[in-house]
Amino acid sequence: MCSVPSLAVMTGDSVDIARIAEEFALDNEFTWGSNVKITGKSGAVHKFDLVVTSKKDENVKVAVLHGISEDLVSDIMKFNAIASDCGISLKALVIEKDLDDTEVNLTHMYNIVTIDQRQSLKPKSDIFGVKELDESLGGAMKRGNVYMVSGKTGVGKTTTATQFLVQGARLGEKGAIILTDTRGAEFIANAKTFTFGFEEYYKEGTIEVIELSDRIRELKEDVLESLKSRSRYIEKLTGEINRIVIESNISRLVIDPLTPMIVENDDFVNQFIMSLAIPHTYMLVTSPVMKSDVSMYGIEEYFVSGIIKLEMDDPSAGIRKASIVKMRGGSYSPYPFYFKITTKGIIASQSERDLKGGSIFKRVEA
Ligand SMILES: Nc1ncnc2c1ncn2[C@@H]1O[C@H](COP(=O)(O)OP(=O)(O)O)[C@@H](O)[C@H]1O
Ligand SMILES: [Mg+2]
Repeated sequence: MCSVPSLAVMTGDSVDIARIAEEFALDNEFTWGSNVKITGKSGAVHKFDLVVTSKKDENVKVAVLHGISEDLVSDIMKFNAIASDCGISLKALVIEKDLDDTEVNLTHMYNIVTIDQRQSLKPKSDIFGVKELDESLGGAMKRGNVYMVSGKTGVGKTTTATQFLVQGARLGEKGAIILTDTRGAEFIANAKTFTFGFEEYYKEGTIEVIELSDRIRELKEDVLESLKSRSRYIEKLTGEINRIVIESNISRLVIDPLTPMIVENDDFVNQFIMSLAIPHTYMLVTSPVMKSDVSMYGIEEYFVSGIIKLEMDDPSAGIRKASIVKMRGGSYSPYPFYFKITTKGIIASQSERDLKGGSIFKRVEA
């Protein structure tokens, strides 16, 4: 018998699951699991990168190989063998590069559908809905990865995160924000005063606001005592987060800020952030800065896929700058984006330096 666990936590790079489902005509009725173990007819237990299952008929399963290794030929052969042992005939190979002739021949021979993600994941300027910022990101942010917006208090992290959710809602994507240090009512009251449409999306349920309960403190208490309690904590928290995402069909999730959920320990932070990577979902966490210039503990930056750092550029004029200081697997602009925050949200602005550089003369104000 083949059995598929339902937990859908995916680490590593993202795979466009919706596209796979579309390719195999599963409509919108499907579930998925990553790193799925299935016992084959031979009795051996096999592991698949991803298995997408039809909700209408559980026997309709697509086995997916994420073709990222150097030795793709032997991976394809092994993949075909284990799929066949598990009685799975629908097979997909997800690639992000051109295949050579041998690889192409193998996929034809084994009837494996090749899905090139380069088109589906490439630049769509729709992450924040702020043209200049989206352009400087150059489509580098991908679903299934965890990104961080960092900066000091008042610089604009929550506003950026809110706008990220509103932009998703405009595109028909459901979003949620998990508040870890603000009361929901307080956040909502402030977000409503922006004119970019938060209130409407919140009322219709396209954006959900979630508070972290005080139980987090109890739960976290003995996290550093033993490896076992650490794993239990991570499983519990990320399990609940996964459940929210699946139940409410969330495509964009924000944790604002991440800090209260984690403790200062390399392995812990690594494990926690890995477990936050949810297939098909953009995950954005915010972080205040303390031990490094982009995070609280100086650890978080190593385990996220990308960082947007916010700073005040000219406090008297309210001008801020956003710099992309890390972005895995993408070409993004090395130049900062200057902006102001008004009731309209984030508005592109010239840097104070540019303004000053404009003229040699300065009018003396009366
Ligand atoms: N509703 C609003 N209308 C206009 N400006 C706002 C509004 N909310 C926040 N701001 C401005 O944006 C700044 C950044 O706020 P916020 O995004 O909450 O910062 P952070 O999350 O980094 O602490 C505030 O200091 C304020 O100047
Ligand atoms: Mg904030």
